Amino acid sequence: MSADRDPTGRFKRAAGRFASGVTVVATRNGRHLYGITCSSFQSLSLDPLLVTVSVNAASPFLAEVRASGHFAVSVLASDQQRVSRYFATPGRGRARDRFPGVPTEVVQTGSPVVGGCLSWFDAALHALLPGGDHQILIGEVVAAGGRDGEPLLYWAGGYHRLRART
Ligand SMILES: Cc1cc2nc3c(=O)[nH]c(=O)nc-3n(C[C@H](O)[C@H](O)[C@H](O)COP(=O)(O)O)c2cc1C
Repeated sequence: MSADRDPTGRFKRAAGRFASGVTVVATRNGRHLYGITCSSFQSLSLDPLLVTVSVNAASPFLAEVRASGHFAVSVLASDQQRVSRYFATPGRGRARDRFPGVPTEVVQTGSPVVGGCLSWFDAALHALLPGGDHQILIGEVVAAGGRDGEPLLYWAGGYHRLRART
């Protein structure tokens, strides 16, 4: 198909060539938890400390985060592909009290941080902006942390690990 007849396909293939890490973005309202896999994470600002993720406007996660006013971003480690797949399954990230089979910790806001992740950001909701068929979530970071280790990578529709250059 020519470029002109499949602009969405060309866009998706071009965007897929941009390598990224993988995160789980999650929130908690009382006993209700919701988490989704997101590769659209970016650090945004140092003053104030802001992060951003883009979330499909159809995701029920958005109503949860509007209600809670906070979310946590967990940057996944190279051995957490199973966790990424879990939260990339529609509706599976909705849970009561805990995510079955995925241990989490609460740091400050109450949003769940995935156990064993490489790094994390705990954030208060700062703004929700329109972005076409997505919503751009901006969070003000109230706590952050991490550990040494290797990231889970996503590129061209598949999971990858870092490979040392020889
Ligand atoms: C590696 C990877 C990255 C993803 N990144 C995003 C993202 O940045 N934003 C988004 O809305 N969905 C993203 N998704 C898709 C969601 O994880 C998926 O649609 C999930 O089912 C959303 O949960 P929900 O259907 O309960 O809303 C990604 C999926 C994968 C596998």
